Amino acid sequence: MPSTPLSDHVEALLTSGLPLPIVAAGDPVLRRPAEPVDGQLPDGLLARLAEAMRVTMRAAPGVGLAAPQIGVPLRLAVVEDAATVSDEVRAARGRLPQPFRVLVNPSYEAVGEGSAAFYEGCLSVPGYQAVVTRHERVRLRALDELGRPVDEEFAGWPARIVQHETDHLNGTLYLDRAEPRSLASTQSVRERWAQPTPHLAAKELGFSLPESG
Ligand code: NI
Repeated sequence: MPSTPLSDHVEALLTSGLPLPIVAAGDPVLRRPAEPVDGQLPDGLLARLAEAMRVTMRAAPGVGLAAPQIGVPLRLAVVEDAATVSDEVRAARGRLPQPFRVLVNPSYEAVGEGSAAFYEGCLSVPGYQAVVTRHERVRLRALDELGRPVDEEFAGWPARIVQHETDHLNGTLYLDRAEPRSLASTQSVRERWAQPTPHLAAKELGFSLPESG
């Protein structure tokens, strides 16, 4: 397979050492829709890229990473969540452990009308979190790293991760969907707003939550 500007770029990136640097908000690569994965990278290179993303996500640490966040404009993301949270938080947020998976060309659609509002953050927006109302349940369609179709429903926190990462591939950051008045430094979230739900934050910071949130 002949090399292309994109495959040369990925090869160069993968020789630069791990973890890879994460692109921060302000870089246009985070704002452009990413290209569908369609043979631009030879299979072996795609697998090495996904592995480098896994290492980078774990080192951050994070529960998801989309290729534009390492400067690669492809519809590719990785997710994994050990969900090391209290039982109370786990129950309120529906945060169950998720195995490592590679999502190629993912898209999602809402299932039902339910929504959920919680604090979330993004590795490309370091230092802050904000409350985002998202679909409680989504149907994900994608391919896995071997090109096999994925068609699966996700609920709770895993559904949030799927939406957040897929949004990245459409040039959307969580801030675009966030409640502006909920914006909080990571430190204030840790010190003040670590409750299982953001109801107290809503009251004290002056924003509203959806009925079902
Ligand atoms: Ni993100």
